Amino acid sequence: MTFEKPKNILITGGLGFIGSNLIRKLLLSTSHKIFNVDFNGYASSNDALLDLFSKNDDFLERYKYFNIDLSKYSKVEKILNDINPDSIFHLAAESHVDRSIDDPNPFIKSNILGTYNLLEVSRSFFNNLSSKRKNEFRFLHISTDEVFGSLGEVGLFNEESNYDPRSPYSASKASSDHLVKAWFHTYDLPTIICNCSNNYGPWQFPEKFIPNIVLKALNGEFIPIYGDGKNVRDWLYVEDHVDALISIFLDASPGSSFCIGGNNERTNIELALYICNYLDDINPGKNKYSNLIKFVDDRPGHDRRYGIDSTKIKSLLDWEEKYSFEKGIKKTINWYLKNRFWCQKMLNKSKYKGERLGINLKNYLEE
Ligand SMILES: NC(=O)c1ccc[n+]([C@@H]2O[C@H](COP(=O)([O-])OP(=O)(O)OC[C@H]3O[C@@H](n4cnc5c(N)ncnc54)[C@H](O)[C@@H]3O)[C@@H](O)[C@H]2O)c1
Repeated sequence: MTFEKPKNILITGGLGFIGSNLIRKLLLSTSHKIFNVDFNGYASSNDALLDLFSKNDDFLERYKYFNIDLSKYSKVEKILNDINPDSIFHLAAESHVDRSIDDPNPFIKSNILGTYNLLEVSRSFFNNLSSKRKNEFRFLHISTDEVFGSLGEVGLFNEESNYDPRSPYSASKASSDHLVKAWFHTYDLPTIICNCSNNYGPWQFPEKFIPNIVLKALNGEFIPIYGDGKNVRDWLYVEDHVDALISIFLDASPGSSFCIGGNNERTNIELALYICNYLDDINPGKNKYSNLIKFVDDRPGHDRRYGIDSTKIKSLLDWEEKYSFEKGIKKTINWYLKNRFWCQKMLNKSKYKGERLGINLKNYLEE
Protein backbone atom coordinates (compact mmCIF):
# COMPACT_ATOMS: atom_id res chain seq x y z
CA MET A 1 0.00 0.00 0.00
CA THR A 2 1.41 3.40 -0.88
CA PHE A 3 0.63 6.35 1.33
CA GLU A 4 2.96 9.36 1.10
CA LYS A 5 2.92 10.53 4.71
CA PRO A 6 0.83 9.99 7.83
CA LYS A 7 -2.63 11.50 7.58
CA ASN A 8 -5.61 12.02 9.84
CA ILE A 9 -8.26 9.56 8.70
CA LEU A 10 -11.78 9.88 10.07
CA ILE A 11 -13.76 6.64 10.05
CA THR A 12 -17.43 6.67 11.01
CA GLY A 13 -18.97 3.41 12.23
CA GLY A 14 -15.57 2.03 13.18
CA LEU A 15 -16.96 -0.05 16.03
CA GLY A 16 -19.10 -2.00 13.55
CA PHE A 17 -18.32 -5.10 11.52
CA ILE A 18 -16.75 -3.60 8.39
CA GLY A 19 -15.44 -0.45 10.10
CA SER A 20 -13.44 -2.40 12.69
CA ASN A 21 -11.96 -4.61 9.96
CA LEU A 22 -11.02 -1.46 8.03
CA ILE A 23 -9.37 0.17 11.06
CA ARG A 24 -7.43 -3.02 11.73
CA LYS A 25 -6.06 -3.00 8.18
CA LEU A 26 -5.19 0.71 8.25
CA LEU A 27 -3.39 0.43 11.59
CA LEU A 28 -1.44 -2.61 10.44
CA SER A 29 -0.46 -1.41 6.98
CA THR A 30 -0.11 2.39 7.20
CA SER A 31 1.19 5.00 9.61
CA HIS A 32 -2.02 7.06 9.57
CA LYS A 33 -3.79 8.35 12.64
CA ILE A 34 -7.27 6.84 12.88
CA PHE A 35 -10.17 8.77 14.40
CA ASN A 36 -13.18 6.55 14.97
CA VAL A 37 -16.57 8.26 15.37
CA ASP A 38 -19.32 5.84 16.40
CA PHE A 39 -22.22 6.14 18.83
CA ASN A 40 -21.57 2.65 20.24
CA GLY A 41 -24.90 1.14 19.16
CA TYR A 42 -26.13 -2.41 19.64
CA ALA A 43 -23.82 -3.80 16.89
CA SER A 44 -20.70 -2.00 18.15
CA SER A 45 -17.69 -3.55 19.78
CA ASN A 46 -14.06 -2.55 20.20
CA ASP A 47 -13.04 -6.16 20.89
CA ALA A 48 -11.90 -6.54 17.28
CA LEU A 49 -9.01 -4.15 17.97
CA LEU A 50 -8.03 -5.11 21.52
CA ASP A 51 -5.42 -7.68 20.50
CA LEU A 52 -3.67 -5.05 18.35
CA PHE A 53 -3.59 -2.55 21.19
CA SER A 54 -2.22 -5.10 23.62
CA LYS A 55 0.62 -6.01 21.24
CA ASN A 56 1.87 -2.61 20.24
CA ASP A 57 1.59 0.82 21.92
CA ASP A 58 2.05 2.51 18.55
CA PHE A 59 -1.44 1.31 17.47
CA LEU A 60 -3.02 2.80 20.58
CA GLU A 61 -1.15 6.06 20.04
CA ARG A 62 -2.44 6.27 16.47
CA TYR A 63 -6.07 5.55 17.38
CA LYS A 64 -8.74 7.71 19.04
CA TYR A 65 -12.38 6.88 19.61
CA PHE A 66 -15.20 9.42 19.95
CA ASN A 67 -18.70 8.52 21.07
CA ILE A 68 -20.72 10.82 18.81
CA ASP A 69 -24.16 10.43 17.25
CA LEU A 70 -23.99 11.65 13.65
CA SER A 71 -27.61 12.75 13.80
CA LYS A 72 -26.56 15.60 16.16
CA TYR A 73 -25.29 18.39 13.92
CA SER A 74 -23.44 20.51 16.48
CA LYS A 75 -21.54 17.46 17.79
CA VAL A 76 -20.52 16.45 14.28
CA GLU A 77 -19.40 20.00 13.53
CA LYS A 78 -17.24 20.18 16.64
CA ILE A 79 -15.62 16.77 16.26
CA LEU A 80 -14.82 17.20 12.58
CA ASN A 81 -13.04 20.48 13.24
CA ASP A 82 -11.19 19.00 16.23
CA ILE A 83 -10.03 15.96 14.22
CA ASN A 84 -9.06 18.07 11.19
CA PRO A 85 -9.25 15.04 8.85
CA ASP A 86 -7.37 14.59 5.58
CA SER A 87 -10.03 12.13 4.42
CA ILE A 88 -13.22 10.42 5.57
CA PHE A 89 -14.52 6.87 5.26
CA HIS A 90 -18.23 7.06 6.12
CA LEU A 91 -19.54 3.66 7.22
CA ALA A 92 -21.82 4.53 10.16
CA ALA A 93 -25.33 3.33 9.47
CA GLU A 94 -28.14 1.23 10.79
CA SER A 95 -27.58 -1.89 8.73
CA HIS A 96 -30.12 -4.66 9.35
CA VAL A 97 -33.08 -4.94 6.92
CA ASP A 98 -35.27 -6.81 9.45
CA ARG A 99 -34.80 -4.10 12.05
CA SER A 100 -35.65 -1.45 9.43
CA ILE A 101 -38.98 -3.23 8.78
CA ASP A 102 -39.78 -3.35 12.50
CA ASP A 103 -38.77 0.28 13.13
CA PRO A 104 -37.58 2.54 10.27
CA ASN A 105 -37.02 5.59 12.48
CA PRO A 106 -33.36 4.97 13.51
CA PHE A 107 -32.57 4.32 9.83
CA ILE A 108 -33.89 7.71 8.80
CA LYS A 109 -31.93 9.38 11.61
CA SER A 110 -28.58 7.63 11.19
CA ASN A 111 -28.49 6.89 7.48
CA ILE A 112 -30.14 10.00 6.04
CA LEU A 113 -29.80 12.73 8.67
CA GLY A 114 -26.41 11.40 9.83
CA THR A 115 -25.05 11.45 6.27
CA TYR A 116 -26.51 14.89 5.61
CA ASN A 117 -24.87 16.30 8.76
CA LEU A 118 -21.51 14.79 7.87
CA LEU A 119 -21.71 16.14 4.30
CA GLU A 120 -22.71 19.63 5.40
CA VAL A 121 -19.99 19.87 8.03
CA SER A 122 -17.43 18.38 5.60
CA ARG A 123 -18.40 20.97 2.98
CA SER A 124 -17.55 23.98 5.13
CA PHE A 125 -14.48 22.22 6.54
CA PHE A 126 -13.28 21.36 3.00
CA ASN A 127 -13.81 24.91 1.74
CA ASN A 128 -11.31 26.20 4.29
CA LEU A 129 -8.54 23.75 3.40
CA SER A 130 -5.39 24.71 1.50
CA SER A 131 -5.47 23.77 -2.20
CA LYS A 132 -2.93 20.99 -1.60
CA ARG A 133 -5.11 19.44 1.11
CA LYS A 134 -8.21 19.96 -1.04
CA ASN A 135 -6.60 17.99 -3.87
CA GLU A 136 -5.92 15.04 -1.59
CA PHE A 137 -9.16 15.12 0.41
CA ARG A 138 -11.63 12.25 -0.22
CA PHE A 139 -15.06 11.49 1.25
CA LEU A 140 -15.75 7.79 0.71
CA HIS A 141 -19.38 6.82 1.23
CA ILE A 142 -19.80 3.12 1.92
CA SER A 143 -23.11 1.96 0.48
CA THR A 144 -24.78 -1.25 -0.58
CA ASP A 145 -25.96 -3.07 -3.72
CA GLU A 146 -29.43 -3.15 -2.11
CA VAL A 147 -30.08 0.40 -3.36
CA PHE A 148 -30.52 -1.08 -6.87
CA GLY A 149 -33.49 -3.26 -5.88
CA SER A 150 -34.00 -6.83 -6.99
CA LEU A 151 -32.66 -8.73 -10.03
CA GLY A 152 -34.49 -11.42 -12.01
CA GLU A 153 -32.88 -14.74 -12.95
CA VAL A 154 -30.25 -13.05 -15.13
CA GLY A 155 -28.24 -9.81 -15.22
CA LEU A 156 -25.97 -8.04 -12.76
CA PHE A 157 -25.87 -4.65 -11.04
CA ASN A 158 -23.21 -2.22 -12.22
CA GLU A 159 -22.39 1.48 -11.78
CA GLU A 160 -25.09 2.42 -14.34
CA SER A 161 -27.91 0.49 -12.62
CA ASN A 162 -31.03 2.46 -11.69
CA TYR A 163 -31.84 3.03 -8.05
CA ASP A 164 -34.89 1.00 -6.98
CA PRO A 165 -34.74 0.40 -3.20
CA ARG A 166 -37.48 -1.74 -1.64
CA SER A 167 -36.87 -1.87 2.13
CA PRO A 168 -36.67 1.01 4.63
CA TYR A 169 -32.95 0.12 4.99
CA SER A 170 -32.16 0.24 1.27
CA ALA A 171 -34.33 3.35 0.80
CA SER A 172 -32.38 5.13 3.55
CA LYS A 173 -29.05 4.09 1.99
CA ALA A 174 -30.27 5.16 -1.48
CA SER A 175 -31.25 8.55 -0.02
CA SER A 176 -27.78 8.94 1.46
CA ASP A 177 -26.18 8.04 -1.91
CA HIS A 178 -28.25 10.75 -3.60
CA LEU A 179 -27.18 13.31 -1.00
CA VAL A 180 -23.54 12.33 -1.52
CA LYS A 181 -23.87 12.73 -5.30
CA ALA A 182 -25.57 16.12 -4.85
CA TRP A 183 -22.76 17.37 -2.60
CA PHE A 184 -20.26 16.40 -5.30
CA HIS A 185 -22.14 18.02 -8.19
CA THR A 186 -23.34 21.12 -6.35
CA TYR A 187 -20.51 21.86 -3.94
CA ASP A 188 -17.49 20.04 -5.49
CA LEU A 189 -17.00 17.96 -2.33
CA PRO A 190 -14.69 15.14 -3.57
CA THR A 191 -16.98 12.19 -2.80
CA ILE A 192 -16.83 8.59 -4.03
CA ILE A 193 -19.59 6.00 -3.56
CA CYS A 194 -18.92 2.27 -3.03
CA ASN A 195 -21.87 -0.11 -3.53
CA CYS A 196 -20.91 -3.48 -2.13
CA SER A 197 -22.65 -6.83 -1.93
CA ASN A 198 -23.23 -8.87 1.26
CA ASN A 199 -20.12 -9.11 3.47
CA TYR A 200 -19.25 -11.96 5.78
CA GLY A 201 -16.39 -12.70 8.19
CA PRO A 202 -15.33 -12.32 11.85
CA TRP A 203 -16.88 -9.71 14.17
CA GLN A 204 -20.24 -9.47 12.38
CA PHE A 205 -23.14 -8.87 14.74
CA PRO A 206 -24.50 -12.37 15.55
CA GLU A 207 -28.08 -11.82 14.38
CA LYS A 208 -26.90 -11.46 10.74
CA PHE A 209 -27.51 -14.40 8.37
CA ILE A 210 -24.26 -16.41 8.56
CA PRO A 211 -23.45 -16.08 12.29
CA ASN A 212 -27.12 -16.65 13.12
CA ILE A 213 -27.10 -20.00 11.28
CA VAL A 214 -23.85 -21.11 12.93
CA LEU A 215 -25.05 -20.17 16.42
CA LYS A 216 -28.50 -21.70 16.05
CA ALA A 217 -27.02 -24.94 14.73
CA LEU A 218 -24.55 -25.17 17.62
CA ASN A 219 -27.32 -24.42 20.11
CA GLY A 220 -29.66 -27.05 18.63
CA GLU A 221 -32.30 -24.43 17.79
CA PHE A 222 -34.30 -24.41 14.58
CA ILE A 223 -32.60 -22.53 11.74
CA PRO A 224 -35.13 -20.17 10.13
CA ILE A 225 -34.96 -19.63 6.36
CA TYR A 226 -37.27 -17.11 4.73
CA GLY A 227 -39.81 -18.18 2.09
CA ASP A 228 -38.57 -20.91 -0.28
CA GLY A 229 -34.90 -20.20 0.54
CA LYS A 230 -34.13 -19.37 -3.10
CA ASN A 231 -33.26 -15.69 -2.58
CA VAL A 232 -29.77 -15.11 -3.95
CA ARG A 233 -26.99 -12.95 -2.46
CA ASP A 234 -23.45 -12.31 -3.75
CA TRP A 235 -21.14 -12.93 -0.75
CA LEU A 236 -17.81 -11.12 -0.30
CA TYR A 237 -15.29 -11.79 2.48
CA VAL A 238 -14.93 -8.63 4.59
CA GLU A 239 -11.13 -8.31 4.12
CA ASP A 240 -11.65 -8.22 0.35
CA HIS A 241 -14.14 -5.38 0.81
CA VAL A 242 -11.66 -3.50 3.00
CA ASP A 243 -8.93 -3.93 0.35
CA ALA A 244 -11.34 -2.59 -2.28
CA LEU A 245 -12.13 0.48 -0.14
CA ILE A 246 -8.42 1.24 0.29
CA SER A 247 -7.76 0.88 -3.46
CA ILE A 248 -10.67 3.24 -4.17
CA PHE A 249 -9.42 5.70 -1.56
CA LEU A 250 -5.93 5.72 -3.08
CA ASP A 251 -6.69 5.79 -6.78
CA ALA A 252 -10.31 6.61 -7.67
CA SER A 253 -11.46 9.97 -9.00
CA PRO A 254 -13.86 12.22 -7.10
CA GLY A 255 -17.44 11.88 -8.34
CA SER A 256 -17.01 8.22 -9.30
CA SER A 257 -18.79 5.17 -7.94
CA PHE A 258 -17.76 1.52 -7.74
CA CYS A 259 -19.74 -1.72 -7.49
CA ILE A 260 -17.89 -4.35 -5.45
CA GLY A 261 -18.98 -8.00 -5.43
CA GLY A 262 -17.65 -11.43 -4.55
CA ASN A 263 -18.52 -13.17 -7.85
CA ASN A 264 -20.07 -15.65 -5.47
CA GLU A 265 -23.85 -15.93 -5.75
CA ARG A 266 -25.58 -18.43 -3.44
CA THR A 267 -29.19 -19.09 -2.56
CA ASN A 268 -29.92 -18.79 1.15
CA ILE A 269 -30.77 -22.48 1.43
CA GLU A 270 -27.56 -23.46 -0.40
CA LEU A 271 -25.52 -21.39 2.06
CA ALA A 272 -27.38 -22.74 5.11
CA LEU A 273 -26.80 -26.32 3.94
CA TYR A 274 -23.11 -25.62 3.32
CA ILE A 275 -22.70 -24.30 6.88
CA CYS A 276 -24.59 -27.27 8.38
CA ASN A 277 -22.56 -29.81 6.40
CA TYR A 278 -19.26 -28.17 7.37
CA LEU A 279 -20.32 -28.13 11.04
CA ASP A 280 -21.14 -31.86 10.72
CA ASP A 281 -17.47 -32.36 9.73
CA ILE A 282 -15.76 -30.18 12.33
CA ASN A 283 -18.16 -30.36 15.27
CA PRO A 284 -20.43 -33.40 14.80
CA GLY A 285 -23.59 -33.60 16.92
CA LYS A 286 -26.03 -36.47 17.50
CA ASN A 287 -28.04 -35.52 14.40
CA LYS A 288 -27.20 -33.74 11.19
CA TYR A 289 -27.41 -29.96 11.70
CA SER A 290 -29.44 -29.59 8.50
CA ASN A 291 -32.38 -31.30 10.27
CA LEU A 292 -32.76 -28.02 12.18
CA ILE A 293 -33.53 -25.99 9.02
CA LYS A 294 -37.12 -24.72 8.90
CA PHE A 295 -38.74 -22.52 6.26
CA VAL A 296 -40.58 -19.53 7.79
CA ASP A 297 -42.90 -16.84 6.35
CA ASP A 298 -41.07 -14.67 3.85
CA ARG A 299 -39.73 -11.22 4.78
CA PRO A 300 -42.07 -8.49 3.43
CA GLY A 301 -40.66 -6.99 0.21
CA HIS A 302 -37.85 -9.56 0.19
CA ASP A 303 -35.54 -8.84 -2.77
CA ARG A 304 -35.11 -12.00 -4.86
CA ARG A 305 -31.62 -11.70 -6.19
CA TYR A 306 -28.53 -9.47 -5.94
CA GLY A 307 -25.48 -9.93 -8.15
CA ILE A 308 -22.62 -7.56 -8.91
CA ASP A 309 -20.55 -6.91 -12.00
CA SER A 310 -17.18 -5.81 -10.55
CA THR A 311 -15.54 -5.18 -13.95
CA LYS A 312 -14.93 -1.47 -13.28
CA ILE A 313 -12.98 -1.83 -10.03
CA LYS A 314 -11.11 -4.85 -11.41
CA SER A 315 -10.01 -3.16 -14.62
CA LEU A 316 -9.45 0.41 -13.36
CA LEU A 317 -7.98 -0.27 -9.92
CA ASP A 318 -6.61 -3.77 -10.34
CA TRP A 319 -8.60 -5.03 -7.34
CA GLU A 320 -9.38 -8.74 -7.13
CA GLU A 321 -11.10 -10.71 -4.39
CA LYS A 322 -8.47 -12.89 -2.67
CA TYR A 323 -10.77 -15.19 -0.70
CA SER A 324 -12.46 -18.09 -2.44
CA PHE A 325 -15.88 -18.90 -0.97
CA GLU A 326 -14.52 -22.16 0.54
CA LYS A 327 -11.63 -20.41 2.26
CA GLY A 328 -13.68 -17.44 3.52
CA ILE A 329 -16.66 -19.38 4.80
CA LYS A 330 -14.60 -22.02 6.59
CA LYS A 331 -12.50 -19.33 8.28
CA THR A 332 -15.69 -17.53 9.30
CA ILE A 333 -17.47 -20.62 10.68
CA ASN A 334 -14.38 -21.59 12.68
CA TRP A 335 -14.18 -18.06 14.06
CA TYR A 336 -17.80 -18.12 15.32
CA LEU A 337 -17.26 -21.58 16.77
CA LYS A 338 -14.39 -20.19 18.87
CA ASN A 339 -16.02 -16.86 19.74
CA ARG A 340 -19.39 -17.79 21.19
CA PHE A 341 -18.62 -15.79 24.31
CA TRP A 342 -18.35 -12.62 22.23
CA CYS A 343 -21.58 -13.47 20.40
CA GLN A 344 -23.42 -13.95 23.69
CA LYS A 345 -22.06 -10.67 25.00
CA MET A 346 -23.26 -8.85 21.87
CA LEU A 347 -26.72 -10.43 21.94
CA ASN A 348 -27.11 -9.53 25.60
CA LYS A 349 -26.32 -5.90 24.74
CA SER A 350 -29.03 -5.86 22.06
CA LYS A 351 -32.55 -4.92 23.10
CA TYR A 352 -34.02 -6.37 19.91
CA LYS A 353 -36.12 -9.44 20.41
CA GLY A 354 -35.90 -10.36 16.73
CA GLU A 355 -39.05 -12.50 16.66
CA ARG A 356 -39.05 -12.21 12.88
CA LEU A 357 -36.07 -14.54 12.58
CA GLY A 358 -36.60 -16.48 15.78
CA ILE A 359 -33.58 -14.71 17.26
CA ASN A 360 -33.57 -14.75 21.03
CA LEU A 361 -31.15 -14.35 23.85
CA LYS A 362 -30.62 -18.02 24.60
CA ASN A 363 -27.30 -19.12 25.90
CA TYR A 364 -24.69 -19.54 23.15
CA LEU A 365 -21.75 -20.02 25.49
CA GLU A 366 -19.65 -23.12 25.19
CA GLU A 367 -20.41 -25.61 27.94
N1 LIG B 1 -22.57 -5.78 6.15
C1 LIG B 1 -22.78 -5.81 4.84
O1 LIG B 1 -22.97 -6.89 4.27
C2 LIG B 1 -22.72 -4.54 4.03
C3 LIG B 1 -22.69 -4.64 2.64
C4 LIG B 1 -22.61 -3.46 1.88
C5 LIG B 1 -22.57 -2.22 2.50
N2 LIG B 1 -22.63 -2.15 3.87
C6 LIG B 1 -22.56 -0.82 4.50
O2 LIG B 1 -21.33 -0.76 5.22
C7 LIG B 1 -21.47 0.04 6.38
C8 LIG B 1 -21.04 -0.72 7.61
O3 LIG B 1 -21.83 -1.91 7.71
P1 LIG B 1 -21.60 -2.95 8.92
O4 LIG B 1 -22.08 -4.26 8.43
O5 LIG B 1 -20.24 -2.78 9.44
O6 LIG B 1 -22.67 -2.38 9.96
P2 LIG B 1 -22.70 -2.52 11.54
O7 LIG B 1 -24.15 -2.42 11.90
O8 LIG B 1 -21.93 -3.70 11.99
O9 LIG B 1 -21.91 -1.23 12.05
C9 LIG B 1 -22.41 0.07 11.87
C10 LIG B 1 -21.79 0.98 12.93
O10 LIG B 1 -22.30 2.30 12.70
C11 LIG B 1 -22.57 2.89 13.98
N3 LIG B 1 -23.63 3.92 13.82
C12 LIG B 1 -24.89 3.73 13.36
N4 LIG B 1 -25.57 4.89 13.41
C13 LIG B 1 -24.71 5.83 13.93
C14 LIG B 1 -24.83 7.21 14.23
N5 LIG B 1 -25.99 7.86 14.07
N6 LIG B 1 -23.77 7.86 14.73
C15 LIG B 1 -22.59 7.20 14.94
N7 LIG B 1 -22.42 5.88 14.68
C16 LIG B 1 -23.48 5.21 14.18
C17 LIG B 1 -23.05 1.73 14.84
O11 LIG B 1 -22.92 2.02 16.23
C18 LIG B 1 -22.17 0.59 14.37
O12 LIG B 1 -21.01 0.46 15.18
C19 LIG B 1 -22.95 0.48 6.42
O13 LIG B 1 -23.03 1.79 5.90
C20 LIG B 1 -23.65 -0.52 5.51
O14 LIG B 1 -24.79 0.06 4.91
C21 LIG B 1 -22.69 -3.29 4.65
